[in-house]
Order: sequence, then C-alpha cells, then structure tokens
Amino acid sequence: MIEVNVELKDRRYPIRIGANILAASDSYAPLKCGDKVMIVSNPTVAEHYLATVSDSLQRLGCQVESVLIPDGEQYKTLDSLNLIFTALLQANHGRDTTIVALGGGVVGDVAGFAAASYQRSVRLMQIPTTLLSQVDSSVGGKTGVNHALGKNMIGAFYQPCAVIIDSTTLNTLPKREVFAGLAEVIKYGAILDSAFFEWLESNIDDLVALQPQKLQYCIQRCCELKADVVARDETEQGDRALLNLGHTFGHAIETHLGYGSWLHGEAVAVGMLMAADLSHQLGDLSRQDVFRLEKLLVHANLPTVSPDGMTADDYLPLMMRDKKVLAGKLRLVLLKKLGQAYVASDNDAQQVRQAIENCSQFD
Ligand code: NAD
Ligand code: GLY
Repeated sequence: MIEVNVELKDRRYPIRIGANILAASDSYAPLKCGDKVMIVSNPTVAEHYLATVSDSLQRLGCQVESVLIPDGEQYKTLDSLNLIFTALLQANHGRDTTIVALGGGVVGDVAGFAAASYQRSVRLMQIPTTLLSQVDSSVGGKTGVNHALGKNMIGAFYQPCAVIIDSTTLNTLPKREVFAGLAEVIKYGAILDSAFFEWLESNIDDLVALQPQKLQYCIQRCCELKADVVARDETEQGDRALLNLGHTFGHAIETHLGYGSWLHGEAVAVGMLMAADLSHQLGDLSRQDVFRLEKLLVHANLPTVSPDGMTADDYLPLMMRDKKVLAGKLRLVLLKKLGQAYVASDNDAQQVRQAIENCSQFD
C-alpha cells in the first residue's frame, strides 16, 4: 500500500492506494473500534463492494449502517442529500459519526456535502471506485449537488479525513468509464508534468488494459499532482483553476447534448484539444505537441472531434456561463507547452471560434 499525503495549512490527510485494500481493516484509519459509521453508496457499487467495506469496518469494531442513493448524475440533487440526512437521523447519528462515501464522483460529491452540512459537519472518508474519482474528485474537498439551473451550483469545500483507493475496483467499472477517467489522467500530464505525459505516451495501452502496476503508479502520480495543487490553493484562488483544462469547452458540450449523452471525460478530451489548438494559434504550443495530445487521446479511446452538428455558435453562449467568467471576460486554461498551463483572461472570440472549428468535423 502506498500513501500520498495532502498537506493543508492546518492539517493533513492520507490517500492510501493499493490492490485489494478494502478487505483489510487497517486501511481505514483513523476509523477505530467503537466509531459509528454511515456508508453512502448506490445500488450498482453496493452490489460489488458494500459487503467487503462493511465487513472490514465491523471487524475493526465500528458500528456500521448504510444508505443508498439512486445511481446517476441526475440524482446528484438535494433530494439525494435529504435521503442521507433522513437515514442519519433515523439511526440517531450524532456529530461523532463518520460518513463513508463508497462510489464514483456522484456519490463522493453528494456524500461529501452531506458530511459538510449534517449537524454543521461530521467526519468524511472517501472510497472512490471510478478512475475519475480516484484521480480527481475524491481528493481536494470539492463537494456538492446540482441545481435544475446549473451543475455543482450548491456545495462546500470539505476535506475528507482519508481517501482509500483500491485499484482493483476498476475491474468491474464499464470500459467507457475507464476511458473517460483517462481523459483526466492525460490532463494532469498536459498541465503539470511533461515527464508524466511522456510516461503516458509509452504506457497508455497497458492503462487501457488495466495492467495492475502501471495503473497503481498512474493513480499515485495523479494523486501526488492533485495533492500538490490543493496544498497550494485549497479554495481555488489561483493555481487550482489549472485543473480545468478543457473543461469550459467540455461543459458546453455536456450542456448542449444534455447530461449523460457524452461522459464528462469524453467532453473534456475534445475540450483539451480545442484549448491546445488555441494555444498553438497564440504561438505557444507546437503543432507537433497538439498532435501528441490528440494521439494519446485516440489511444485512450476518447473522442477528438466536436459532436456532430454542434457549431461554434452553440459553444460560445454556453462557455460564457462558466464559473471562471469574470466581468464578462472568458477565462480559459491554455498551454504554454506540454506540462505547463496558465489561465488566459483576455481571449479573442475569433480565435476561440477558430479553435472550435479546427476540432469539428464538417461533411
Ligand atoms: P459516477 O459517479 O456517475 O460513476 C459512473 C458509473 O459507474 C455509475 O453508474 C456508477 O454507479 C458506476 N460505478 C462506480 N464505480 C464502479 C465500479 N467500481 N464498478 C462498476 N460500476 C461502478 O461518475 P464519475 O465519473 O465517477 O463522477 C462524475 C461526477 O464527479 C460528476 O458529478 C462530476 O461533477 C464530479 N466531479 C467532481 C470533482 C470534484 O473535485 N469534487 C471533480 C471531477 C468530477
Ligand atoms: N476537479 C477540479 C478540482 O478539484 O479543482
């Protein structure tokens, strides 16, 4: 088992990464004998892993209960949050309880926000079971739910006491979800670490095949990179925004198509290429490096062109609703070179339009 620490100003917490670690009671520290625990999961994940996690915690001497929220982004809502609160109240959980989020990013975000707000906050442990949640959403404390008028519009920064990543859980994850997670993995290389980007170029086929050692190293490196960014900028006043490479374009795709049509990682893949194209137009990223990014995304079975029929006129109004828009100015994460990103705040609309068109397929 490998441990990566997230060092915050006033505290730290461990990310434990390993194979089959959910079956070992000592993976779950700081939980200990006598602790009360509410596991939050969904029916899909619970079928595979709830018994293993419950048994390990019971062997540790914890008093364990569980509540399931429905599976899917459309259930990342206040209603699901309320289901968790009801279960906690019905079972008399007080401020000394611990919420354990067992699932992908949806469960992690909802359960995390439940922990941030139940009785003005209780302890949270994250057990992410998708590649996206293992390399991104479970680390760093962003929690929340969607509102009918916008994604992730209600939430809080609330850090877990520990993150437990069992890489073998990815064996039951649908392949398309694995590929979508690889988009976020590739993002870390592109924005922060050119050596990791090169490593990905050499090892992408093994990652697609879920080769255990490569997968563990990949998760570890992403967690180290994210932990470092979060340590520098817990509440996204600066550098943390770099983690959004491709996301402003990608969110426009997700909103235009309706959530659930393209997966988040798929939309981010195309968005990263648009950002790379714009970076090239600005004279920063070489054409060859744009191709390297495209090739890596193709090897990860990710899309590299805009959805059929979606035009620049569809993107631009949606992009202006992004949380990074300040005083009516579109701010985009762009690349100086592979491994070095920055936030560009004065983007030329014509160049943005061109980048979108360069990544679109016309008949
Ligand atoms: P998800 O949670 O919807 O999981 C994808 C699907 O895989 C679901 O059907 C789920 O039940 C299933 N699943 C999960 N683990 C499984 C396993 N091991 N075996 C079989 N099936 C499994 O999707 P996601 O991609 O993990 O997360 C997306 C969410 O994460 C979005 O709501 C997004 O906003 C959020 N997110 C949050 C942050 C953050 O910093 N908090 C960062 C990125 C994304
Ligand atoms: N996923 C972006 C962040 O955690 O800031």
